[in-house]
Formats: sequence, C-alpha cells, structure tokens
Amino acid sequence: MRITPSILNADLANLNAEIGRIPSSDMIHLDVMDQRFVPNMTFGLPMVESIRKGTAKQLDLHLMIEECDRLAPAYAEAGADSVTFHVEASNAPIRLARELRRLGARAGMGLRPATPIEPYADMIGELDMVLLMTVEPGFGGQGFLDLVLPKIERTRKLVSASGLDIWIQVDGGVSPATIERCVDAGADTFVAGSAVFNAQDPDAMVNALRDQAIVRCGH
Ligand code: DX5
Ligand code: ZN
Repeated sequence: MRITPSILNADLANLNAEIGRIPSSDMIHLDVMDQRFVPNMTFGLPMVESIRKGTAKQLDLHLMIEECDRLAPAYAEAGADSVTFHVEASNAPIRLARELRRLGARAGMGLRPATPIEPYADMIGELDMVLLMTVEPGFGGQGFLDLVLPKIERTRKLVSASGLDIWIQVDGGVSPATIERCVDAGADTFVAGSAVFNAQDPDAMVNALRDQAIVRCGH
C-alpha cells in the first residue's frame, strides 16, 4: 500500500518546502499538463529537473500531455523513478513503455475514466503500473467517480492472472471517504492531492490514508 501525494494542490511556488511537509509519503506524484490533453497547464521538464535536485524522494511522474511518445523519455532521463503516459495520447504505447524501462524508469500507463482496460490486456506485461483515473484528468479537488470501480476490479484480475508485480494506481478524489472502495476493488497505490494538502497536518494524513488502506485490505 503506497501513498503518493499529488502536489497539484500544494503551493507550486514553494515546492521544496511543500515536499518537506510529507516525509512519510512513498513517492511524490507530479502532474505535468500541457493544456492540450487536459484544459490546464502546470509545469514541464525544467521544473521536474529542479525538483529532482531538491529531493531524494522517489518521483512519480504523471504526464497529461499529447506528445508523450516524443517527450516522455526525457522525464526518465531527468531521474524520474516512474513515468506514466496516457494511452489515449500514445500512438505506440509498447515502444514507449520499453523505452522508459530501458532508461531506468518504471513504466506506467494511464487511462481516463471512460477508457477500457481490455484492449490493452495483452500488453500489460510491458508495464510496471496501470494508473486508473477516478476523475477526468486536469484538476485537483474533484469528486471521486464510483463508475471506475468495476474497471479497477477487472484490472486487478488481469494483473493477478499475469503473475507479475504490476502496481494499480488510482488518482482523483482519493480521501478517507473513498480509499476503502479503491482497496476493495484492488488498487494498491493511491494518489491523494487535496486530501493531503488541505489537511492541517499533511504528513499525518499520508499515514492515516496508508493505515486505513492496510487495515481494509487485511495485511
Ligand atoms: C488530476 C491529477 C491528480 C490530482 C489529484 O488530473 O492527475 O493527480 O492532483 O487531486 P485530488 O486528490 O484532489 O483529486
Ligand atoms: Zn495525477
């Protein structure tokens, strides 16, 4: 059970300090947006390189960009530990996943809420993580979409059948009120943005979410 706080709702002008507020996090989730794949813009490679220099924490990149086939490998080269591209934006997801792994990063593939997992069942072994969006990507603080839960269950079945250690990450609206539904459906890696950074004590919230997930799953 891993908690990877999204800094999207943190103070973006003081990111090193904000990352310092969540020492218990397993990874730091960085949302890169290009205002084309999603109607919002955050930051790109120079910012990630700067964040890389400022922290030893593992960096979990979530690329919400159209040109992932061309641009994603540079994030692996910049020292991101995990790089997730969106399958809706990739023309060659197998080639891209292999390239990310070759560069030493974990390869993640993200799906919008309405994108089915089944067309990608045969390539799941190319991945280290599947990210299932539980809101439409683009903004923090949105309501959790329960309609994604059956897809989480189906993804867990595919991963179990593969026998591989592929993480299932949920992103969007994850909070103490929704994390147990995600655990029950089979997720093991949880992005939480507003739930963590709107909390009075963000690090206590990270630990509370992880404890809640561990208790719910029974180990
Ligand atoms: C949304 C981003 C998320 C977002 C999550 O498009 O991918 O990582 O920051 O924020 P919350 O937890 O507030 O939904
Ligand atoms: Zn994200």
